[in-house]
Amino acid sequence: MQDITYSQVRLRALKLSRKEIKVGVFGASGFAREVIDICLALGIKKIVFIDKDSENLNYYGWPLCSEDQIEPLIVEKYCFVLGIGDNHLRKKIFNIFRKLPYINLVHPTATLGYDMKERLSKKKGNIITSGVRFTNNIDIGNFGIYNLNCTIGHDCILEDFINVAPGANISGNVHIHECAYIGTNASVIQGQSQRQKLIVGENSVIGAGSVVTKNISSNVVAFGIPAKMREKK
Ligand SMILES: CC(C)(COP(=O)(O)OP(=O)(O)OC[C@H]1O[C@@H](n2cnc3c(N)ncnc32)[C@H](O)[C@@H]1OP(=O)(O)O)[C@@H](O)C(=O)NCCC(=O)NCCS
Repeated sequence: MQDITYSQVRLRALKLSRKEIKVGVFGASGFAREVIDICLALGIKKIVFIDKDSENLNYYGWPLCSEDQIEPLIVEKYCFVLGIGDNHLRKKIFNIFRKLPYINLVHPTATLGYDMKERLSKKKGNIITSGVRFTNNIDIGNFGIYNLNCTIGHDCILEDFINVAPGANISGNVHIHECAYIGTNASVIQGQSQRQKLIVGENSVIGAGSVVTKNISSNVVAFGIPAKMREKK
């Protein structure tokens, strides 16, 4: 069973033990709500949602505050995650609140291969939901979303702010650049070797159910079997 993974240094600085972790979740949409499931599965019960200019005090029964009410949460030693599916919005919020103590959230049913827990502990802001599988020697970035039952093969490079949607399968030797989005049930076939990885370019979107067989440029949408590139709308 995996446990919560976080930067040891960061939590030590906050003088927090695992049981005391309180989580502030940015966002108040469907994905933010799915983050509750991970927190509860990890035994985290102190959860506050944070939404821009929120006037409501409550989000599906959980406390909700606005972005200008974060200060007291910091004083109360909350840790933070960005529960926002949109890669660019997630990055934008991070750029506004860069200095917060962000943690990784890993659902207990996710499995991480050899050395991956250690690698992840040096990163921050990743949200790994239930049933996700990582094998090993994967160079994971920060603030990635790895959604239900997706799989990541050996020797991949996963840059910051990517999103791998439910059921997507990333084969070995694939390099996914920053802010790329891999749609539900898409498959990315393996790169030729560790040195010649198959590339999904920065900001690109792979359509649901597509099969990526060749390098995908930056800033495009690619879909179908095999996936063909089109300019983004
Ligand atoms: C690929 C995608 C980004 C294209 O979006 P878009 O640029 O707005 O494209 P449109 O919806 O206008 O569709 C254009 C055409 O492509 C087809 N198409 C769209 N997505 C497709 C896909 N994934 N596979 C095959 N064909 C697809 C549409 O049916 C349409 O065909 P038509 O011209 O014959 O009517 C989007 O459809 C998609 O798959 N997004 C990922 C969604 C996802 O996985 N979400 C996860 C949530 S957790």
